Amino acid sequence: MDDVRNDREARKPAILFLCLGNICRSPLAEGAARAAFAAAGIDATLDSAGTGDWHVGHPPDRRAQAEARRRGADIGGLRARQLVPGDFRRFDLILAADDTNLRDALALAPGDATAELRLMLDLVPGRTGESVADPYYGDDGGFAATWDDVSAVAAALVTAAASAESSG
Ligand code: 4NP
Repeated sequence: MDDVRNDREARKPAILFLCLGNICRSPLAEGAARAAFAAAGIDATLDSAGTGDWHVGHPPDRRAQAEARRRGADIGGLRARQLVPGDFRRFDLILAADDTNLRDALALAPGDATAELRLMLDLVPGRTGESVADPYYGDDGGFAATWDDVSAVAAALVTAAASAESSG
């Protein structure tokens, strides 16, 4: 069976991070995942989106950019976009920051969706069902907590991708 892999298994992982505005949590998650996958030398398609449209075309919140920079990641080039039904076919996994994002995404999912939809922290041992808290209305300290959460998610994704590669 070693060399018998179907297209989906052979394809690089495609993961979409989802929040409300796509300017705080999901771009931080994308930035953390980009850094973690690059460090592990694993190729992946990584993107982020929001369920809302208020910030479409905007760069990440300045506080999110500053926190990412402090942690060695540059997310300044990202631009917010809204989740579209086609994302449910383009990505293997759509990871929502909180329950509301998850519900709103489900409402948009087309009948032929192939993506798996989960909460981001479902991937982190001991944190199943938890939300990544929205730092938008809080102080700068919230963004450090967001980075810690999304880094744990990124690490779990890399671990899973690495074991899929070695067993593939
Ligand atoms: P995010 O945070 O969903 O993590 O990007 C928010 C960004 C903007 C708003 C709310 C949350 N807003 O209401 O504009």
